[in-house]
Amino acid sequence: MSSLLEIREVNSGYVGVQVLWDLSLSVEAGSLCCVLGPNGAGKTTLARTITGAIPAWSGDVMLDGSSISRATPEARARIGVAQVPQGRRVFADMTVEENLEVARFAARGREDPTSLPFVYELFPKLKHLGGQQAGRLSGGEQQMLAVGRSLMTEPRLLVMDEPSLGLAPLLVGMLYEAIARIRDRGVAVLLIEQVVEAALGVADTVAVLESGRVAAYGPASEFRDSEALKSAYLGGGVATNGDAERQSSEILGDQS
Ligand SMILES: Nc1ncnc2c1ncn2[C@@H]1O[C@H](COP(=O)(O)OP(=O)(O)OP(=O)(O)O)[C@@H](O)[C@H]1O
Ligand SMILES: [Mg+2]
Repeated sequence: MSSLLEIREVNSGYVGVQVLWDLSLSVEAGSLCCVLGPNGAGKTTLARTITGAIPAWSGDVMLDGSSISRATPEARARIGVAQVPQGRRVFADMTVEENLEVARFAARGREDPTSLPFVYELFPKLKHLGGQQAGRLSGGEQQMLAVGRSLMTEPRLLVMDEPSLGLAPLLVGMLYEAIARIRDRGVAVLLIEQVVEAALGVADTVAVLESGRVAAYGPASEFRDSEALKSAYLGGGVATNGDAERQSSEILGDQS
C-alpha cells in the first residue's frame, strides 16, 4: 500500500542555507502524523516544501503515488494539499463567511456540499460570527477560521503548523478534538507541534525533527508509553500567551 504523502530524501532550504537534509517521511491516508522538534529544527521549512511555498532542491514529494515536487502551490492546493500556516492567516477585511467562501475556490471541480456544515459543526461559534470582520476576531476565533478555511479547500492532506501556538489550554483541547475529527473524516494530517502531550494524544505516528533530519519516527503509542523516548526527544512544554485567559473565557461563554 502506498502512502498518501511520501517525502523521499528531500533536501531543501533557503538561499545559502540548507535546512532539510535527506529527509524521508510518509503519512498514510486518513492518519495523523505529528512532527515535533525544537525551534529552528526545520518544521516550517518542511511544511513549505510540502505545500510548494519553497521548492525541494532534490528528492521527491509524492502525493498518492505521483510526484508533486515541481507543481506550483496553487496546483498542489487544487489536488488537495491544504495548510493552516504558522500564524493563522485569514483575510482580515473580509467577514467570516466570505473567508470560508473564498477558500472554496481552491477546490473548484471537487466541491463537497457537506464541507461548510462540517466546519460549523466543528466550530459552532463561526456560524454565529458569520457576518463579523475576521480581523476583529480573537486569536482563538481566527485559528478556528483558519482551520475552517483549510477544510473548504477539500483537503486530502492537511498540513498544520503549530495551530495551538498562543492558545489557552482549554482552546488547545477543543482544537485537538477538531483535528481528530478531521482525521476521522478521512483527511491525512501532518501536524507540526511543540505542545507535546496534546499532540501525542491524537497522533497515529510521530516524527521528531532535529537539525533538519528525522531523529526518531514511530507509532505515537511508543512515544506515549516511553518516558525514555519522551525525555530523549521531547523536552517541550505547553505554550500559552497573555491572551490565554481572555480567549478561554470567550470560548466558554459561547459554549455554555
Ligand atoms: N526565509 C528564510 N530565509 C533564510 N533562512 C530561514 C528562513 N526561514 C527559516 N530559516 C532558517 O531555517 C531554519 C529552520 O527554520 P524553520 O522555520 O523551518 O524552523 P521551525 O522548526 O519551524 O522552528 P519554530 O519552532 O521556531 O517555528 C532556521 O535556522 C531558520 O533560521
Ligand atoms: Mg516553525
